[in-house]
Parts: sequence; C-alpha cells; structure tokens
Amino acid sequence: MSHNQKAAPFIRWVGGKSKLIKHLKNYVPSDFCGGNYYYEPFLGAGSLFFHLTPQKAYLSDSNKDLIECYNAIKSNPEIISEYLNQHLENNCKEYYYKMRDEYNSSKPSITKAALFIYLNKSCFNGIWRVNKKGHFNVPYGYKEPPPLPSNEDLLKISKALSNAKLVHKNYKDAVINVNEGDFVYFDPPYPPLNGTSYFTHYTKERFNRDDHAELARIAKELTKKRCLVMISNADIPYIKSLYKDSFNVYNLEVTRWIRTNGERYKVGELIITNYEV
Ligand SMILES: C[S@@+](CC[C@H](N)C(=O)[O-])C[C@H]1O[C@@H](n2cnc3c(N)ncnc32)[C@H](O)[C@@H]1O
Repeated sequence: MSHNQKAAPFIRWVGGKSKLIKHLKNYVPSDFCGGNYYYEPFLGAGSLFFHLTPQKAYLSDSNKDLIECYNAIKSNPEIISEYLNQHLENNCKEYYYKMRDEYNSSKPSITKAALFIYLNKSCFNGIWRVNKKGHFNVPYGYKEPPPLPSNEDLLKISKALSNAKLVHKNYKDAVINVNEGDFVYFDPPYPPLNGTSYFTHYTKERFNRDDHAELARIAKELTKKRCLVMISNADIPYIKSLYKDSFNVYNLEVTRWIRTNGERYKVGELIITNYEV
C-alpha cells in the first residue's frame, strides 16, 4: 500500500474508483466546506472518501461484513495487523479455504474483520460474491504473497476514520438526515448491460434498473434540500435518460472492459452532478 502520509483503500472492490480519482476529484464541488457532512452511501473501498478525508463523514454500505471491518479497523488497527501477519505467514491454497470456512461460520469480531481483509486480498480478482445462504464463495486467487495492509497503513486508516460514522444501511435510509450544504457521493452498482446479466454481486440483493430510477428520484429530492449531489454511473442511454432533464451529465475520458457471462463490453463512465463544475 501507500508510503505517503495519506490513508488509502485497504480492499480491492469491484467498481472501486481508486484508478479514477485523478478524474473524479475535478468534479467535487468547490464550495463544499468542511463544516458540512460528506456522505458516501455506497462506500465499497471508499476511494473518494480516502482521497478527500473530510472532517465530518457519514459512510455506509449494505454489505454488513464490510462495515464491520471498517469499524474494527477504526477501533483496533494494531490487533488486526497482528492477525494479518499470521495470515501472511500461513498463506497458501489450503490455508485460504480453511480460513474461508472459518469466516463463513464466524460471528462479527476483530478476528472476522482480519479474515475479511485476508480473503479479499487473496481471493480471485478481489470479487465479493456470496451464495444464497450469504456465504462468501470466491476461489483462491494465487496471489502470493497477498498485498495485505501493513500496521502503518492500518493506523493511517484508523486515523482517517476517527471522525466518520460507519453504518450498515441501505442507501435510501442513509441519506434521510442529509442537510443543506452536505455533499453526497453516490457510486451505486452499475446496471445490467442487458436485461438479465449482472456484473456485480456485492450482497445477496441485486441493484436493478428500477433501483436506478429510484436513486435518480432520491437525488432530485436531495437537490430540493439544497444538498450537493455527485453520482458515478455507466454511460448507457438508460442512465442518461434518468438524469438528463435536471442534472449536469459529464462523460469521463475513460472506458472500462466489463466481463459478463463470458462476453466483454466496453463501457464509458458518467459523472452526474446537481451543481456546475
Ligand atoms: C460500485 S461499489 C462502490 C465502490 C466505491 N466507490 C469504491 O471506490 O470502492 C457499490 C457498493 O454499493 C453497495 N450496495 C449495493 N446495493 C446497495 C444498497 N441498496 N444500499 C447501499 N449500498 C449498496 C455494494 O455493497 C458496493 O460496496
């Protein structure tokens, strides 16, 4: 991980924006002031949060294990670091599957939070995928040694999180108390590229086209409350149609390859804002 003073994301996450930060940061509202809250209701690896490290933040995600992991790092970075050192020493294919079983049968704890990080960094492509029972089922990724965060990294992350509230919530409930002047960054799972295929499996629940329409409606409500809203999404006609009348829609100069059901699609990135950039 990073050797500079700033904390950085500690997990790999599908849809994570760390490689896009150099573009995203140009769309952050210039008049967002530290006295207001920063909201990130689809937190994932929190790339923009770690880049901005705002004074006040309300961070949330519908993935319960993810939020428990953040809270464990916030309170106990050094204990997590000790567990990660043990995982690093023992890492191999057999050990990974043994730890995956242990993870799936454990209750929330610091041990489980460390397992979350170990599995994320050692699994295939950093995918978070659970079966119908909610059990994490991603195979070993043969990344040896897995790039686990160091004690120093975890201390920086804990410090960056010290003034943040970290909550397990659906995004709709997470933005109920947003106030005028607060800045909300929505980075939802992107919509299926065709009617049925999904390329994100973060939790048992999926985020479908109706959910995207509902998110656009909520963004309009927040605009009425005079909040600053920025949204990342895929550059597809359906998404543009949801926002084109009341928002500024910008195309980022980047495209990504997305693999769905064995097919590869090239998708552009949109940034949608309710303020001028
Ligand atoms: C595209 S990822 C966010 C990536 C993040 N911006 C980053 O840089 O890593 C979308 C996130 O939304 C979460 N999510 C999916 N459905 C949700 C919902 N209904 N409410 C809140 N979070 C949700 C997923 O668990 C996932 O972490």
